[in-house]
Amino acid sequence: MVQIKTAADIEAMRPACRHAADTLVMIEPYIQPGITTDEINELVHDFTIKAGAIPAPLNYHGFPKSVCTSVNHVVCHGIPGNKMLNDGDIINVDVTSIINGWHGDNSKTFFVGTPKIRAKKVVDVARQALEIGIEMVRPGATLGDIGHAIQKYVEGEKCSVVREYCGHGIGRGFHEDPQVLHYGRKGEGLVLKPGMVFTIEPMVNMGRAAVKLLADNWTVVTRDKSLSAQFEHTMVVTETGVEILTVPSS
Ligand code: MF3
Ligand code: CO
Ligand code: CO
Repeated sequence: MVQIKTAADIEAMRPACRHAADTLVMIEPYIQPGITTDEINELVHDFTIKAGAIPAPLNYHGFPKSVCTSVNHVVCHGIPGNKMLNDGDIINVDVTSIINGWHGDNSKTFFVGTPKIRAKKVVDVARQALEIGIEMVRPGATLGDIGHAIQKYVEGEKCSVVREYCGHGIGRGFHEDPQVLHYGRKGEGLVLKPGMVFTIEPMVNMGRAAVKLLADNWTVVTRDKSLSAQFEHTMVVTETGVEILTVPSS
């Protein structure tokens, strides 16, 4: 069931969405060669707790940490650990915060030190894929319009779109209906209405789309070991278009 959020619900979601965005602003200067993903986890965890917020990933279906950190060929759901970042790596930091029972979900892929040409390409395509998806959002458009626009752009750039994971409705729940696929056909699927709140979060691979799940049951990697990048925003369908909720304060 796809919920329509009220104006009051949207106001109630803003602090969590803002906090997730502020967390990415906070973490960016720490993304340097030599930091470990555990240190990133600790910084995100402390920043969240100090704000009176809850890190949604922690214990979510057994996820052991407060943030997902997905490095290089890791597609999503990377578990922070003692792995040190190296110059030229890329890392997606995916932050989900809960405030007053409401969730906000925001992620970005950062360059560690100086990016290599291939890294720049996949990160630029993933960033642009999210923008192109967001541009499709308005009342009367369909989820298929969003997926189609993203897929067409990404494949036109000779990259590929991951099929197994998608955007999602969000609110009091971390993952609500609908599923927001990053591929599809124009005009198909759910018709968007004002008050629908969901994420768009395309995972873009430099090589083939196929992924595999590692033995830890969380870490998703590209089968061909090619680089993968992702950006995510939480947004609401408005009367006239879309409003991104995961915007930092100030
Ligand atoms: N934040 C991810 C998303 O965008 C979900 C992470 S689930 C976790 O939907 F358990 F791995 F944290
Ligand atoms: Co999400
Ligand atoms: Co997320």
